[in-house]
Amino acid sequence: MLLEHKLAVVTGASTGIGFATAQRFVAEGARVVISARNEDKLRQAAQKLGAHALPVVADAASPTDMQRLYKTAVDHFQREVNVVVANAGISRQTPVRETSLEHFSEVMNVNVGGVYSTVREALPSLSRPASIVLVASLAANQGTKNFSAYCASKAAVVSLAKSFAAEFVELGIRVNSISPGVANTPIFDTLGMTEAQLLEWAKVIPMKRPAEPAEIAAAILFLASDASRYMTGADIAVDGGMSGISPF
Ligand SMILES: NC(=O)c1ccc[n+]([C@@H]2O[C@H](COP(=O)([O-])OP(=O)(O)OC[C@H]3O[C@@H](n4cnc5c(N)ncnc54)[C@H](OP(=O)(O)O)[C@@H]3O)[C@@H](O)[C@H]2O)c1
Repeated sequence: MLLEHKLAVVTGASTGIGFATAQRFVAEGARVVISARNEDKLRQAAQKLGAHALPVVADAASPTDMQRLYKTAVDHFQREVNVVVANAGISRQTPVRETSLEHFSEVMNVNVGGVYSTVREALPSLSRPASIVLVASLAANQGTKNFSAYCASKAAVVSLAKSFAAEFVELGIRVNSISPGVANTPIFDTLGMTEAQLLEWAKVIPMKRPAEPAEIAAAILFLASDASRYMTGADIAVDGGMSGISPF
């Protein structure tokens, strides 16, 4: 088991990629603290995960919430945190002309500020060595119509992983990011996208289908575990070939 005796924190773990990651971590022997803002959904997720998961309601973009989360994690499990997955993120679909600064700031606040607080507030509680995984996106490197704020936020996440890695390498703390392409999660409900639209997107994926959340979780597990111990400051594309294969 890749995470035996490890304590992991996964933000945004009530659904989608974060939940699948927590599920995989528990299966690999970890104790996992899961967080999100909606208490009911988080509790339901924790119930499915079983006794090795502890739910803590916390907004990733709130430094005080994250301080409370790490304190709760350490107090409850009586050990340092070995793995942090900064996964919480939101996506909004709006053309530039209809994007208010308020909207832009909301996306940046959660997707970039949230990652920053998740990592910064973890530092006093982290073991040495430790592994941090930031969930970025294929959108970091591809301009996408109606998703300018989201794309910019994810480019910032890839960049943060590299700077965090540079700053923490001497502490024995590795930091890497993953960039999923299209994964079949509830995030598309918030975009008002129909299943037919999602399938339309899938046509341009070389593998011709969206990822299952468990397929993204497998890459996060690799980066979280000692199997990737010689990696830091890297970004792994988990996108069915979208970033690496020409459509022509
Ligand atoms: N699905 C894809 O195709 C895809 C592709 C590339 C990258 N990603 C990235 O993968 C990550 C997970 O996305 P997903 O598709 O699994 O989405 P999802 O199913 O909508 O899950 C998002 C999770 O984040 C939580 N969350 C949102 N804002 C939060 C905040 N401020 N603080 C704490 N938790 C928060 C949500 O719960 P609450 O709302 O209750 O807080 C939920 O648990 C995101 O960063 C997303 O950008 C997804």
